[in-house]
Amino acid sequence: MAPRAFITGIAGQDGSYLAAYLLSQGYEVFGLIRRNSITEHQQTRLESIAQHVHTEYGDVLDPSSVYRVMARARPDEVYNLAAQSHVRISFDVPHLTIQINALGAFNVLDLTRTHFPNAKFYQASSSEMFGNSVDADGKQRETTVMTPASPYGCAKLFAYSSVRNHRRAFGMFASNGILFNHESPRRASNFVTSKVIRNAVLIKRGKARQLELGNMDSQRDWGHSKDYVRAMHMILQHNVADDFVVSTGVTHSIRELCDIVFRKLGLDYRDYVVQNEKYMRPEELRYLCGDCTKATTTLGWRPEYSFDQLIDEMLEAALAQT
Ligand code: GDD
Repeated sequence: MAPRAFITGIAGQDGSYLAAYLLSQGYEVFGLIRRNSITEHQQTRLESIAQHVHTEYGDVLDPSSVYRVMARARPDEVYNLAAQSHVRISFDVPHLTIQINALGAFNVLDLTRTHFPNAKFYQASSSEMFGNSVDADGKQRETTVMTPASPYGCAKLFAYSSVRNHRRAFGMFASNGILFNHESPRRASNFVTSKVIRNAVLIKRGKARQLELGNMDSQRDWGHSKDYVRAMHMILQHNVADDFVVSTGVTHSIRELCDIVFRKLGLDYRDYVVQNEKYMRPEELRYLCGDCTKATTTLGWRPEYSFDQLIDEMLEAALAQT
């Protein structure tokens, strides 16, 4: 019988790539979709696989809705990807972020434990949990101290800890993927890679004159979402539940990102990019660079996309859409 997967956040960037990947591996895929007021754009990322996945409305904050879909799915694997995923916005809506990212994750975890104890559980944990903590060699890894620097990071740390607690206390197969930033043409336009690329294309086309950004000196380790959903699946195929950093180990500043993107379009970013306080964060996470040695050696995972290929794919998509 085909293995069965249940994905919360299936309509998001990672959820949609993960669903397609699991279908390609012979899975039957079920997913939870949060209702919003614009029906038209809700399942855009799932368009190419809509006929093949089972989706239903529900919300991780409404355990009865999660249970209803899970009961239909009878999952072998549960992937909790639902989140309020924007770090700066988590300062604007901290209670909501904490509810969704901490309590929501706990709801899905505990429903899995009580009703589907043999299912394996994956939690979308984040490098944002490290905050400004860095090991002496300039990297973050599974053993690095976690000192989150946002409501988003604090809530993710709660979910991460709950997964480890459920693993130890109840013997549950529950694992964390500690994912560093990962992007794609499906990235929402208010994350920095997507924002820079879409606006640079608008400027190139003469449809915009300026790009307003926040902190340009922070540094991020950016990979491709397609590579990272493959890692999620591998984490659950490992013989024991465990926690894994998923990253590229290559870091760029926002300023470098702008320089590279604008240069690819024959432009100089310094002529167009200005700073606006509005996009600054009360506490900035200055530097991220992950060491994914554990995932590489234990799981055999490694990223296939380089930073340059990622940017080229996003640029190509933005050029085609604009
Ligand atoms: N979004 C945004 N918009 N970020 C900006 C801007 C801007 O106008 N200007 C500068 N930045 C800087 C941010 O201050 C941050 O240092 C960096 O660009 C990346 O911001 P985001 O793309 O919003 O991502 P993030 O690092 O905050 O969070 C992402 O990665 C996490 C993993 O580390 C999200 O995907 C999180 O959900 C994920 O957990």
